[in-house]
Amino acid sequence: MSLPKKNPTTSNSWNKLAQFAKNHKTLQSYFEADPTRAERFSIAWESFYVDYSKNHIDEKIQEALVALAKDAGLEEARKAYFSGETINQTEGRAVLHTALRATPDADVRVDGENVIPEVYAVRKKISAFASSVIDGSRKSSTGHSFTDVVNIGIGGSDLGPMMITEALAYYKNHLNVHFMSNVDGDHVMEVLKKVNPATTLFVVVSKSFGTQETLTNATTAKKWLVDALGAAAVGDHFVAVSTNLPAIDAFGIQAENVFPMNDWVGGRFSLWSAVGLSIALAIGPDNFEELLDGANQMDTHFESTPFEENIPVMLALLTVWYNNFLGAQSEAVIPYTQYLHRLPAYLQQGIMESNGKSIDRDGEVVSYETGNIIWGEPGTNAQHAFFQLMHQGTKRIPAQFIGFAQSLYDNKDHHDKLMANFFAQTEALMSGKTEAQVRAALSNKGMDKVELEKLVPFKVFSGDKPTTTLLIDRLTPKTLGALVAMYEHKIFVEGIVWNIFSYDQWGVELGKQLADVILKEFSASTMGEHDSSTTQLIKRYKG
Ligand code: F6P
Repeated sequence: MSLPKKNPTTSNSWNKLAQFAKNHKTLQSYFEADPTRAERFSIAWESFYVDYSKNHIDEKIQEALVALAKDAGLEEARKAYFSGETINQTEGRAVLHTALRATPDADVRVDGENVIPEVYAVRKKISAFASSVIDGSRKSSTGHSFTDVVNIGIGGSDLGPMMITEALAYYKNHLNVHFMSNVDGDHVMEVLKKVNPATTLFVVVSKSFGTQETLTNATTAKKWLVDALGAAAVGDHFVAVSTNLPAIDAFGIQAENVFPMNDWVGGRFSLWSAVGLSIALAIGPDNFEELLDGANQMDTHFESTPFEENIPVMLALLTVWYNNFLGAQSEAVIPYTQYLHRLPAYLQQGIMESNGKSIDRDGEVVSYETGNIIWGEPGTNAQHAFFQLMHQGTKRIPAQFIGFAQSLYDNKDHHDKLMANFFAQTEALMSGKTEAQVRAALSNKGMDKVELEKLVPFKVFSGDKPTTTLLIDRLTPKTLGALVAMYEHKIFVEGIVWNIFSYDQWGVELGKQLADVILKEFSASTMGEHDSSTTQLIKRYKG
């Protein structure tokens, strides 16, 4: 079964939403009209509380959004997604990151074969390997225990493990885990500067094992190690995660040090696979398993909950509402914890590489907006940076605020201040400050009337800025797993409604091909054809 193909603009629900969009009300007036709104438009699930009442919807709009999901065939698409159908049609693959965190008794078939036993075999291998590095029983070529791990990978082979390792720093053991991603040699040197060859383990992560950046960085790291410890050391200091076993062999990594992954795991959804090896090393295999468990809980919620009560579905439909009907170009993600400082970057790949498409599932150019722009930074820092634009700028920016009821170090004074800001910002964004309120505040300060009137327009906040609040009990491997899985399913739902293929990424290819051409030209005496701007720039670089 392949995914349904339906131009969303042809459905009744789409037309209804277009009508509703013309006369939707302000957030303030929705709240005035319905004092029970916060209860109505919120979802409590496990340790998550999702309040989406500060969005421009009422029951009719919500109903039409849910109808849109149904019209798009979300129910059958969800079945195809979980059951291993080839829904990544343009690459001829299933999309089964959910199988990586399924329970051992699950039965998920690819080409007739249940993949779960293999998933558990790899999980066991990750566990055993991580334990032996953490407890020091696995030795380096010089007989030392490892103190440092360098993850070499880029995109999904970097962002996922890096974001999670940062997010779960509280749960970390003694190993220092570093991330080497950019082909920028300065980045490589800055990482190598921090580590000692005798006690460093390199984890080379590349689904394809053909990515220029990763292979270049791995080769440089290997040379650095060989220069220090000799060629025989490579076997003890390098392990790899990939689907491409021959290429790993050619690189010189022994078969027993290879952690396999499958082509049915997309790079940006791969942190649950052996790509998560650096996570298991950093926080220990038990915490890694908890992370998977949390994701599995969210999978069950997404798979079995009616759309109105389904967190990823409702969040995705809100995105569609703003993106396609209310003219929003972007969406902000603001975590109120420093631990999640890389979450927006991680989501940029997950969301924008998946849904940044303009061809529908019939191969036609879409006539409507698809993937939006994702950005964000942790609060409260963000308040002192770009919140000015959110409060008083001209753009509509729906934002997700993610906060935790408990801090990890139980510092109540700090946490109360953090959370006071967390709640205050969504209130301020929605309620704003009227001219009358500004006037009253300024005249209370005794300001001269003429001066006061000049200042009033600059101090007004129009409000009516939509936010969704995710309040989660505590940042743990389990809740983080659920949070990340929530975004994965949100991506899926959006892609289904927009009638696009979310799991390929052909748009990253052209630049890579041209870079290969230009790289050759750096050492050639003649140059190929380029536009005059590019030719001039290359000449200037070559000197
Ligand atoms: O450039 C895009 C991309 O293919 C991503 O989708 C992927 O996560 C990244 O490159 C790295 O790919 P690989 O794991 O094969 O090295």
